[in-house]
Amino acid sequence: MARTEKRWLLLMVGLLTLFMAIVVASTMTSALHPPSNVETIDPVTLHLGGEFAESNLGTAQEPDGSLTARIVADQYAFVPYCVKLAVDTPVKFRLTSVDVVHGFLLPATNVNTMVVPGYVAEVRTRFTRPGVYSMPCNEFCGNGHHGMWARVIVVPKPEFPALAPTERSSCVQQ
Ligand code: CUA
Repeated sequence: MARTEKRWLLLMVGLLTLFMAIVVASTMTSALHPPSNVETIDPVTLHLGGEFAESNLGTAQEPDGSLTARIVADQYAFVPYCVKLAVDTPVKFRLTSVDVVHGFLLPATNVNTMVVPGYVAEVRTRFTRPGVYSMPCNEFCGNGHHGMWARVIVVPKPEFPALAPTERSSCVQQ
């Protein structure tokens, strides 16, 4: 091995060690956490009860008129596959994963979060116009990642109260 080659190699290994040390040190001193919300949940039992039980998934209207959409991500689907929300209304998304890290992103909005097993991701937004937003899984999660899509349908405000609870969490025409 030529001497210059050896020096470059040493320099590269040195830099890698330095970067790794910075990551480890900042994780320990700055308490790095998943973005958006530090709220833990047991991914093994979340389907058995509580807010992420199957009957609680989808869109719910809060007493103050705001909307909460609860969605569970798993390989390779969002459950429910589609939620309906109203325009000009405060919306809170609450998401969690049962298996690996997924990503939740609504194009042209501020909604973009990782969905990490063991944590509840919470994102608040307000839609300014009706429309159909397709949401791709935004974090590589395995062989079926490219097929992991779902939808958010934003309807005009007066139409929303007329929707039955089952229609709010389904895009099937009824
Ligand atoms: Cu889920 Cu990629």
